[in-house]
Amino acid sequence: MKSTLEETLLSAIRTIPDYPKPGILFRDITTMLGDARAFRRAVDELVHPWAGSKIDKIAGIEARGFILGGAIAHQMSAGFVPIRKKGKLPHETVRVAYSLEYGLDEMEMHKDAIAPGQRVILVDDLIATGGTAEAAVKLLTQMGAQIEAACFVIDLPDLGGRAKLEALGVSVRTLVS
Ligand code: PRP
Ligand code: ADE
Repeated sequence: MKSTLEETLLSAIRTIPDYPKPGILFRDITTMLGDARAFRRAVDELVHPWAGSKIDKIAGIEARGFILGGAIAHQMSAGFVPIRKKGKLPHETVRVAYSLEYGLDEMEMHKDAIAPGQRVILVDDLIATGGTAEAAVKLLTQMGAQIEAACFVIDLPDLGGRAKLEALGVSVRTLVS
């Protein structure tokens, strides 16, 4: 029997209790990435609304957003822009501090990665509190990007990330909750 996208993805994503800290249920997408059918379906479904439209850049958030974002950029014939943890990018950057479900960090993007007015889709594996994605939105906005949407495979709705991005006027696409 043909399984729905949600069934395919939920059965391909693994949950690790108490990682990286006690009390966190870590949603591990490495199993989904290792499943050729689930990986392809996730990428196809995330890009579906933009079939035939011109997107200039896919901005992927370190680290798992690089894997999905690279595949999506290739599929959409768009460029790829890495949004990285501080100190990893070699050229001039813009930087922003942010908090997440289990800590504090800073992220950066190259200043010349996006030209003002370029159409950008932000990609990561998962949205929880939305702190990471909100920081990425701030970087993209500072650079004058036109953010078409933020896409994630997994939404953890109880943590409010989607609502946080939508309150900033960003359209959010997720595949499973
Ligand atoms: C995870 C995930 C998102 C972020 C979501 O990354 O890949 O980027 O947390 O959390 P938030 O919505 O509460 O901000 P993590 O910080 O674990 O980094 P990693 O991908 O480098 O392991
Ligand atoms: N990032 C923030 N919360 C997470 C979770 N529960 N699983 C995987 N990545 C996360």
